[in-house]
Order: sequence, then C-alpha cells, then structure tokens
Amino acid sequence: MATNRTFTMLKPDSIEKGYIGAILEKINAAGFKIVALKMTRLSVAHAEQFYAIHKERPFFGELVEYMTRGPIVAAILEKENAVEDFRVLIGATNPEDAAEGTIRKIYAESISFNAIHGSDSDENAEIESNFHFSGRQMF
Ligand code: CMP
Repeated sequence: MATNRTFTMLKPDSIEKGYIGAILEKINAAGFKIVALKMTRLSVAHAEQFYAIHKERPFFGELVEYMTRGPIVAAILEKENAVEDFRVLIGATNPEDAAEGTIRKIYAESISFNAIHGSDSDENAEIESNFHFSGRQMF
C-alpha cells in the first residue's frame, strides 16, 4: 500500500556535532512535514533489534556501538512519495558516493558514521515508526 510517510533518525554523530537544527531545516526545505519528533537514546537491545537485518554483517558490532553512544533524534516525515524522495535527499549510504547537496554528502563522515537514517520501503517506514513512536505520539 502506498504511503506518504517515512521514518528517519539523526544518528549520534549528527547530535554530537550540533547538526540537529541544520538537518531538520534541510528536511523541511525539501518539503517534508514533521509529524512526530523526539530526542532519545537507544539501548543496546533496541539497536540490535532495529538493525537485526544486519546482524550477520561484519560491521554489526560497530553499528550497535555507534547507534548507542549518544542520543538520536527520531522523526516521522510526511510528503508525497516520502520514502523515495527522502532517500534522494539523504544520499548514498557511503558519503563518498553521495550526490552533492545531499545530507550525507554534507554531514556524514564515513560509511560507518553516516549521520542519518531513512527507511528503505513503505513497509519498513511503518515498522520503524511503530518501533519508536506509539499512536498518541504521531500527529
Ligand atoms: P543505514 O543504511 O542507515 O543502516 C545500516 C547502517 O549500517 C548504515 O546506515 C551504516 O551506518 C552502517 N553500515 C552500512 N554499511 C556499512 C559498512 N560497509 N561498514 C560499516 N558500517 C556500515
């Protein structure tokens, strides 16, 4: 089923470097409306669950350590064609491959520490949104 929502997390490196405002401004400027937003911190168990699909990958331990080392900002975003358009806005997983002007090109330091998450499908956008927000926190 088509949806007009996607889920994002500003990862710990973005918060550490003070990029929350700049990244949210870029998201708004690209036409996304923020319909849920919170600053929180993932436990190891939550990070392992969120990234369970990567648990056999060699970088899994490093990924969990990264995502739990400090606060994150989680948000649900609304826009027509949200999932696809947001992935264009954030750019490739590896900032070296990301297009000029994309969030990862500007703010990410490496493929491991890449500043921001964006859901890769409508189905995952819903699963990830429900993972972080209860119904009464979504507007
Ligand atoms: P994301 O695509 O949002 O979700 C999976 C994360 O794993 C990815 O961002 C990176 O933070 C990390 N990741 C993906 N590929 C690698 C890799 N080859 N080496 C290290 N970390 C990676």
